[in-house]
Amino acid sequence: MIIYLAPIQGTTDRIYRNLFPLYFKGVDVAITPFIPSSKKMKPENNLLREYYPNINTGIPSIPQIMSTQPHDFTLLANALYKIGYGTVNWNLGCPFPMVVKKGRGAGMLCHPDRVESFLEKAIPDLKPKLSIKLRIGFKYPDEVLQLMPIFNRFQLEELIIHPRTAVQMYEGKVDLDIFEQCVHLTKHRLVYNGDIDSAGKLKMLSQRFGTIDRWMIGRGLLENPFLAEEIKFNTEKPYAEKIKIIRAFHDHLFAEYLKILSGPSHIVNKMKELWTYMGGFFENRKKIQKKIWKTHHRDNYVDVVNKIFDELI
Ligand SMILES: Cc1cc2nc3c(=O)[nH]c(=O)nc-3n(C[C@H](O)[C@H](O)[C@H](O)COP(=O)(O)O)c2cc1C
Repeated sequence: MIIYLAPIQGTTDRIYRNLFPLYFKGVDVAITPFIPSSKKMKPENNLLREYYPNINTGIPSIPQIMSTQPHDFTLLANALYKIGYGTVNWNLGCPFPMVVKKGRGAGMLCHPDRVESFLEKAIPDLKPKLSIKLRIGFKYPDEVLQLMPIFNRFQLEELIIHPRTAVQMYEGKVDLDIFEQCVHLTKHRLVYNGDIDSAGKLKMLSQRFGTIDRWMIGRGLLENPFLAEEIKFNTEKPYAEKIKIIRAFHDHLFAEYLKILSGPSHIVNKMKELWTYMGGFFENRKKIQKKIWKTHHRDNYVDVVNKIFDELI
């Protein structure tokens, strides 16, 4: 079984992906949060520097690109290939209104002709392998069924499917019946993504989808970073030990972000984003988050977080 860390813009950045495997086991690969393609992407570009392999030493990662322009896409993908990435991922799933309004991300799912034309133009010039992460539709859950024969025409590394529509955002039920239809219709390797938050949930899914052995987990792993090792090794550490490890991970992240974020409130805002998910690990989540949300300055944040961890252990 292969476990993927899902891209979560704002959280699963380079630093998070670098430090994660120092504290937690079981995650094999990550897709990075999306990079928007641009007409003037060169390997010496600042944005690309963030992807240099010598500073990406943690979970092996596949860069994700958001684009509707085949030429811009291949330019960026080939620049990533040049610095060492053998595979890139195309984002066809982002549901945010600002993105879909421009026909990007999940906004392209209801236009099979555009998807087909994009692949026809991008693939001949593309050096890295191509994987695609998609939702099942923009508005309707069966839109993906029209895309499957199109994807079958091209050589793809894999399809990562989150069986929700863009309109659903991150809520409501995942549509497992449509995912099952995709399993039957595709000739590509599939990765399942959506709402895996326990070993039991994954077991239920793997019983239903016997041919799937790749699972992508986002919020479930951010909330419980031990989830992948609990799934794979069927073991669970005592709560107190887990808290100690989470504290060490938190302190390490804080120290690393401090090196790149100037200004006493920038770092606090960054850490608050992390706590949105990580807070879910703790039994008294609401109380903890309330205390953290009230902090606005680095020093105050450190005091409050230290007190929270001291009381937990
Ligand atoms: C705040 C946030 C940011 C996200 N950013 C990205 C992104 O950059 N690229 C992407 O493909 N998916 C992104 N996603 C979607 C997740 O990768 C994943 O598909 C989704 O959360 C469902 O999986 P989960 O239930 O395991 O979290 C984001 C999700 C959230 C909540």
